[in-house]
Amino acid sequence: MTALRSATAAGPLTGEIAVPGDKSISHRALMLGSLAVGETVIEGLLEGEDVLRTAVAMRALGAMVSQQPDGSWHVRGVGVGALTEPAEVLDMGNAGTGARLLMGVVAAHPITAFFTGDASLVRRPMARVMTPLRQMGATFLARSGDRLPLGLRGASDPLPIRYRLPVASAQVKSAVLLAGLNTPGRTTVVEPEPTRDHTELMLRHFGATIDVEDGPEGRVVSLLGQPELTGRPVLVPGDPSSAAFPIVAALLVEGSNVLIRNVGLNPLRTGLLTTLQEMGAAVAVENARVQAGEPVGDLRVRGTGPLTGVSVPAGRAPSMIDEYPILACLAAAGRGRTVMHGLGELRVKESDRLTAVAEGLAACGAVVSVDGDTLTVEGDGHAPEGGGHIATRLDHRIAMAFLVLGIATREPVTIDDEAAISTSFPDFVGLMNGLGARIARPDGEGDGPRRAITA
Ligand code: S3P
Repeated sequence: MTALRSATAAGPLTGEIAVPGDKSISHRALMLGSLAVGETVIEGLLEGEDVLRTAVAMRALGAMVSQQPDGSWHVRGVGVGALTEPAEVLDMGNAGTGARLLMGVVAAHPITAFFTGDASLVRRPMARVMTPLRQMGATFLARSGDRLPLGLRGASDPLPIRYRLPVASAQVKSAVLLAGLNTPGRTTVVEPEPTRDHTELMLRHFGATIDVEDGPEGRVVSLLGQPELTGRPVLVPGDPSSAAFPIVAALLVEGSNVLIRNVGLNPLRTGLLTTLQEMGAAVAVENARVQAGEPVGDLRVRGTGPLTGVSVPAGRAPSMIDEYPILACLAAAGRGRTVMHGLGELRVKESDRLTAVAEGLAACGAVVSVDGDTLTVEGDGHAPEGGGHIATRLDHRIAMAFLVLGIATREPVTIDDEAAISTSFPDFVGLMNGLGARIARPDGEGDGPRRAITA
């Protein structure tokens, strides 16, 4: 394990950066490119470990996936229904999105595949995708509790279903829709609360017929199966969930002025920006535009002093689900109480994020409590003392959130392992230090083993 320590910034953060490509869109681009006929050229793909695992898996399933010298990625797909049986186990690493979406893809192919992942992923629930995929005709043999490793035999004659999501999860919605691609007839997902719609947007971009309607039961998404998908160019915007870290860093240090270019602003992803506005933050969208079907803009962030505590409604959770750890760190330096409702899903992310955030903040001297699925953070207008040693639990967002907090605390904040950061934000430390952060290995601690994956 390689620890990292974040010391108080010497002054305001300044500069212009671009964050890496959107993780959700990157996984989907590789999968749909692999199911399309012809070539898909992807610009801005996130070259983080999670996505590289998906690239390796798509190759094992028969697609040609290559990284070009100019930084783009080319995918030559096999066509819907034509993936071939992988000879090796599909090791999805830390990636819940990669694992769950790919199970959907495989579930409607007459092939058998075995899935596994790292120590975090094998603890995460898979029943949420197995249940609908079984209804479509797939067969699973999984470890107890429906966890990885598992074997999946895809259906030879998949059945279209109408499935109402029992949890607000874009991963479950996407798994069902991706299985619906090679299923005759209409596959329908009903989501009581809208979740990120990158799968729907990209399916349409590749030529599928997909209808989306808002009705009394919620959002009804319906896909006409067995389309011919055609290879398309994909431009991946910067990941708003990654942008959240430099945004909050700038807000934590008064006088900061940071521009983050080319950030994805899909309205189903911007709950954090809404919350920041309510807290009184100076975050402005510049140069708003639409790029390959996704709204994109540059974000100008100014640190103007402590923000005000707010109540974040449960209904906003799907649009900022990955941003609660960093919001909680910001709230600890705010003025007043911030109450975040409806966070049950945080318990089944890369770690139990409710516990990880509460324990980490308490270790840094913040006043924090968890009651059921509500997280409350009290602030007195100053950053907490700091000095905490944070267990990152193979969770990139916990690692980055607490390194950002350390920028503002009086005592440095130390995380026990940097490894998970490379799943979504490989150059996090370099970018943050370029803005004025001081994140480094603690003195006297050398390199531990690094996880590495090449694609
Ligand atoms: C994702 C959906 C969310 C999110 C994850 C990415 C996606 O998970 O937390 O990081 O790309 O569909 P859930 O679907 O489990 O909420």
